[in-house]
Amino acid sequence: MRASAALSPFAGLAIALGGVCVGGCPPSDTPPAFPSDYASSYVEVRNCRRSPDHDLAYIRVLTSPEAAETYRTQTGTFAEGSVVLKEEFADPGCTDLDSFSVMVREGASWRWQTVSSDRHVLEDGALPRCIGCHSTCDPQFELTCTLE
Ligand code: HEC
Repeated sequence: MRASAALSPFAGLAIALGGVCVGGCPPSDTPPAFPSDYASSYVEVRNCRRSPDHDLAYIRVLTSPEAAETYRTQTGTFAEGSVVLKEEFADPGCTDLDSFSVMVREGASWRWQTVSSDRHVLEDGALPRCIGCHSTCDPQFELTCTLE
């Protein structure tokens, strides 16, 4: 993509600007790591609240069913393939969905994704920006950061 030349300091990184992927974007057929029926098949582990981070103001956290207990109790280890999904909203009532941030358990670590509200994958992989900040959360559990 031409635009990446102008963004050389970020070469190799994908940058999501207002839902548009600029430079190093994942292949357009990369699927979101969570199912389209997540609203009924996933478990809410953190309810609607203001986020101290992530640009947007309001969030909700859900997990794939097998990961809910581990996330809530913060004990043990996440099973391979566990998904932790953060919905990001523009309004305090958590109705105006803007985008998703996703963590997928792979081996001892996570794969990270950002996904637009219409399920386009904007970033995908071992994203240094995500890992860098999630490593510094205090307290944290297995790189998850959301407080109760
Ligand atoms: C500057 C710090 C920072 C960066 C960068 C960051 N996060 Fe987070 N993330 C947080 C904090 C703090 C939380 C706790 C919830 C909140 O307030 O948003 C969080 C929560 C989450 C959650 C909910 C699960 C949990 O409890 O941790 C997911 C999923 C997530 N982030 C994914 C990502 C992805 C994917 C990226 C990279 C594209 C990313 N984050 C980049 C700080 C960061």
